[in-house]
Amino acid sequence: MTNFKNLAVPGVQLLKPYIPGKPIDELERELGIKNSIKLASNENPLGPSPKALAAAQAVMANIHHYPDGSGHKLVQALADKHGVDSRCITLGNGSNDVLEIIARSFLASCNGAVYSEYAFAVYPIVTQAIGAEHQVAAAFPKDHPTMPYGHDLDAMARKINTATKLVFIANPNNPTGTWLDADELETFIKNVDKNVLVVLDEAYYEYMPDDLQPNTDQWLQQYPNLIVTRTFS
Ligand SMILES: Cc1ncc(COP(=O)(O)O)c(C=O)c1O
Repeated sequence: MTNFKNLAVPGVQLLKPYIPGKPIDELERELGIKNSIKLASNENPLGPSPKALAAAQAVMANIHHYPDGSGHKLVQALADKHGVDSRCITLGNGSNDVLEIIARSFLASCNGAVYSEYAFAVYPIVTQAIGAEHQVAAAFPKDHPTMPYGHDLDAMARKINTATKLVFIANPNNPTGTWLDADELETFIKNVDKNVLVVLDEAYYEYMPDDLQPNTDQWLQQYPNLIVTRTFS
């Protein structure tokens, strides 16, 4: 009998399936509880925005047509908001999708991706799927005065070598909730070899206080090897 797993490329064969949390109704039934709030996936316990519901309902009348695959209006609105050329914007089905597209576009099995210990779980997964090298930098220690388990940019810089194609940085990071000083982050990006792409994952950007948010729209104009990912989720 065909063993489908053996037919997969080596990197995919070694992937471990993600085990999601149980659906909330199943968990409540199992534990005999009610009105629980699911926190594991960072979802909004207050429900969807009425504006999002109205927008979704408005397009229901057209679901017999293919959607605009290029997301023309959304791309244009994002380009205007961030002051970048619309050709610089790639949409995905969530930023996970974009991170995966980046890995598949730029990494080969002879390359490596640098990321920090305790960084967002998708970086090792996409690196593994390609069969590229995991160039994992030690995070700050548990007793670090401000950012326990946070990204140590110096340690990350030391991991970069001639095989490195991507550096994944989550700012702020999940699951540690740590963030980076904007000036230190910019210095890191400025000093990185221009053939190495810095992927700055800003999925939680909006949760940072205004004075801590780096001006990444500006950085995109200055550093051609910078990719910034954001999400609506
Ligand atoms: C740091 C970080 N980046 C990216 C994502 C991907 O989010 P989404 O695919 O929902 O946009 C997550 C989701 O948990 C995340 O925590």
